[in-house]
Amino acid sequence: MNIAVLCSGSGTNLQAIIDNVKSGHIPAKIALVLSDNKNAFALKRAKKAGIETLALNPEGYNAREDFDKELIKNLKKRNVELIVLAGFMRLLSPYFIKKYKNKIMNIHPALLPSFKGTRAIKDALQYGVKVTGPTVHFVDEHLDHGPIIAQKCVEVSDNDTEEALLGRVHKEEHNIYPEAIKLFVEGKLKLKGRKVVRG
Ligand code: GAR
Repeated sequence: MNIAVLCSGSGTNLQAIIDNVKSGHIPAKIALVLSDNKNAFALKRAKKAGIETLALNPEGYNAREDFDKELIKNLKKRNVELIVLAGFMRLLSPYFIKKYKNKIMNIHPALLPSFKGTRAIKDALQYGVKVTGPTVHFVDEHLDHGPIIAQKCVEVSDNDTEEALLGRVHKEEHNIYPEAIKLFVEGKLKLKGRKVVRG
């Protein structure tokens, strides 16, 4: 199966996915790493691993859908069957999401449905939760909302800092995201309503 990974930043999750593909743990090919930010370190990681990359500048498109149409063109060209969002900080249009229904995964650094949005670690700390952790989910038309594939608890300590907590959440992300992708690629994820079951 050909997969595409979409990133905007550092790409530590991308690296974990690359490593799991290389070792054969995920039986798939990363056909494309795409970014909306030409300076994303994720692109360097992909190039180093010999993976094709593409940077699309959102400023070059009038509407969100136009950017997404270009995206679709590039995914179709490479027969991509799973789209993995790994720190992709751009909303996808309903048009795109409909085209790839239940074929787009995202990772979020909080236990959804808590702390949606882009400040999940900070919000969790400020709220004073005792546990938080990453969520892998399918993407639907609503923000951080689609069916949940995997979650992992991370304890929050009294003197935690954003940086320390982020580090521990990241560590778990790098385990659960490759596992979720592996299950999808092997055809072992089934949707029952909004529940994702393994079978
Ligand atoms: C990850 O922690 C991911 O959970 C988060 O961006 C980070 C990307 O890190 N995603 C979101 O906040 C999406 N709402 P990475 O570039 O090192 O993989």
